[in-house]
Amino acid sequence: AFEVVLARSGKSVTVAEGQTIVAALSHIGVRVNVSCEQGICGTCLCTVLSGEPDHRDSYLTDEEKAENDQIMVCCSRSKGPTLVLDL
Ligand code: FES
Repeated sequence: AFEVVLARSGKSVTVAEGQTIVAALSHIGVRVNVSCEQGICGTCLCTVLSGEPDHRDSYLTDEEKAENDQIMVCCSRSKGPTLVLDL
């Protein structure tokens, strides 16, 4: 599990094993637009302010993934205990 902190709204939520970031956010009333939910379409792109994403998508290029400043929240996760998003 890891924690997602939302910098703009000041909210945070724990993302359990087997749960997506999108699902965890919906539990605290934060809705992110999704379409494919498989890391392909790019709809759910969010800006990462801090932390290291565990990229599981096939939308971002390897170079973009290495920058660690964007994440597809429908399928990607966090390598560390906390991920701060610009939401
Ligand atoms: Fe398509 Fe996340 S909803 S990449």
